[in-house]
Amino acid sequence: MPAQNRNKMPLRALVTGAAGGLGREVAVQLARRGCFVAVTDINGDGLAETARQIGETGTETESIVSDFTGEGAPEAAVEKVVARWGGIDILVNNAGYGVIEPFLDATFKAWTRTLALNVTALAMACKAAGRVMREQRSGRIINITSPGSRMALPDYTAYTASKAGVDSITRAAAVALAPYGVLVNSLAPGMMDTEMQRSTEIDLARANGRDDLQAFLDERTRRIPLGRRAEIAEVAEAVVWLCLDAPDYMTAERLNMSGGLDKD
Ligand SMILES: NC(=O)c1ccc[n+]([C@@H]2O[C@H](COP(=O)([O-])OP(=O)(O)OC[C@H]3O[C@@H](n4cnc5c(N)ncnc54)[C@H](O)[C@@H]3O)[C@@H](O)[C@H]2O)c1
Repeated sequence: MPAQNRNKMPLRALVTGAAGGLGREVAVQLARRGCFVAVTDINGDGLAETARQIGETGTETESIVSDFTGEGAPEAAVEKVVARWGGIDILVNNAGYGVIEPFLDATFKAWTRTLALNVTALAMACKAAGRVMREQRSGRIINITSPGSRMALPDYTAYTASKAGVDSITRAAAVALAPYGVLVNSLAPGMMDTEMQRSTEIDLARANGRDDLQAFLDERTRRIPLGRRAEIAEVAEAVVWLCLDAPDYMTAERLNMSGGLDKD
């Protein structure tokens, strides 16, 4: 699909959790393809850097600093995009949160925060963008899930449960929006060395009583069938493919970009 809509206007995208990591890379790659790209995150400084990088591509951008767990926050972000550019063609639900916590030490706080962002905010964003896309009779939503959504990880259960929720929402939203030609897919990235992944693995090593962090990380890398961690840029390429290039008949798909960690 060219990065233009039926009216020959640049496609209008919203990327959540775009202050760094995968979200920033997806946003910049979409901008390089000519999309107008709105970015949102709770981290204003990181978001400013993302906006600067998008600006270098010469396209238009909009920065929305927002805690997506607030009631109405996802809807407000979508409204801002529509107010600026008259519609929304692409939503990438990438913002994510997770905390290492042994199952028998589970806390209400960690579960509530994780589910509020990864599940509730994602569902509300799908709803808000989906309503606009329904009227447009076009649009694509990509939800970032995780190989963990299908694993038993007793130190990371709030996160894996939330990503199982992402899979469930993706299937439901795909069916709800199919009559209007709106596609909803998800992508499960493998281990990428982002800020979130790094701090999670430090905590995981600690929870497992390991003080040899590098050896612990190397063992985890060796468990990946392709034998290496994912580059952020290559995962972003797959997200952008779903946004712009995947065939119109693909919906309710969960794309596996995990180097064989997850097996479909
Ligand atoms: N890094 C990996 O190995 C990996 C593997 C599988 C899935 N993922 C998923 O990829 C996505 C991107 O993660 P990443 O690895 O790039 O990490 P990241 O920490 O760089 O990105 C997550 C972003 O979400 C933002 N965020 C957190 N809480 C928020 C809130 N309340 N409101 C708004 N924004 C908030 C953070 O500020 C951050 O910019 C996440 O959904 C994550 O679960 C990552």
